[in-house]
Amino acid sequence: MFRRKKLSAEDPATEGDPEEMVVIVDQAVNPYLALFHEPAGYRAEQIRALRNRLVALNPDGEPKTLVVTSAVRAEGKTVAALNLAMAFAELERQQVVIVDADLRRPSCERYLNLNPEPGLADVLLGRVPLERALRPAGFRRLMMLGAGSRVTNPAEVLGASRIDELFQRLKERFQYVVIDTPPVLPSTDAGVLSARADGTLLVVRLEHSLKKQSREALRVIQDMGGNVLGSFVNELRGQDPESDQRLAYEPREAEED
Ligand SMILES: Nc1ncnc2c1ncn2[C@@H]1O[C@H](COP(=O)(O)OP(=O)(O)O)[C@@H](O)[C@H]1O
Ligand SMILES: [Mg+2]
Repeated sequence: MFRRKKLSAEDPATEGDPEEMVVIVDQAVNPYLALFHEPAGYRAEQIRALRNRLVALNPDGEPKTLVVTSAVRAEGKTVAALNLAMAFAELERQQVVIVDADLRRPSCERYLNLNPEPGLADVLLGRVPLERALRPAGFRRLMMLGAGSRVTNPAEVLGASRIDELFQRLKERFQYVVIDTPPVLPSTDAGVLSARADGTLLVVRLEHSLKKQSREALRVIQDMGGNVLGSFVNELRGQDPESDQRLAYEPREAEED
């Protein structure tokens, strides 16, 4: 949807000049970013509950790197990682960054309606300093490190020992580093990243991935030395206020009181 607006109505010199028009494009972020679109809704609360459990697992409040992954593609990893990063960013005094480590099919920037810019791949290849690649994600103080330039050898780029150094540097600056990754079964990237992160969350989309695929992904991560903290289940029937009104808990309208 477009809306046209005059830049300077007072200035007759620009009248009729096409440059006086600005085009405002409606923000088109991914509709499943519950923390962004429906912060008071049931889904946002579920994500905060997960965040609170992760915070409880870290009583000393030490900086942590958290990988979000799943067995196969399209299970909701990127949406889950962004929602979780936003939930962490809601906490006071927490510096949080979302890192798009899916160098194969990056989508964090697209889901946040941001333009692709230098990011993780450029930092790992030493082309751009970290400080230049970090930028606001458009939600509170959440920062983003996008995937960056496309590379032909993502496994090599991510496998370099530079990633350990990068995680360390990110932890000096952020309390929570949430890392979106490619799926576990088709490539080694997620396993490698899990092994180097403090914790891993496995996203499972019911009725999409096969149970045996999720089990296999869990085994791969554990075999590589990853620390699986839990799973993030998408599309649980009967656990959604749309299908079960007992779970709805919308704020009361003023006139209802
Ligand atoms: N909870 C959800 N319910 C329904 N659709 C979802 C949900 N989370 C994500 N999606 C949609 O499913 C597709 C895959 O999600 P995405 O997060 O990109 O998966 P992945 O990163 O695992 O490939 C996207 O079109 C996304 O908008
Ligand atoms: Mg993804």
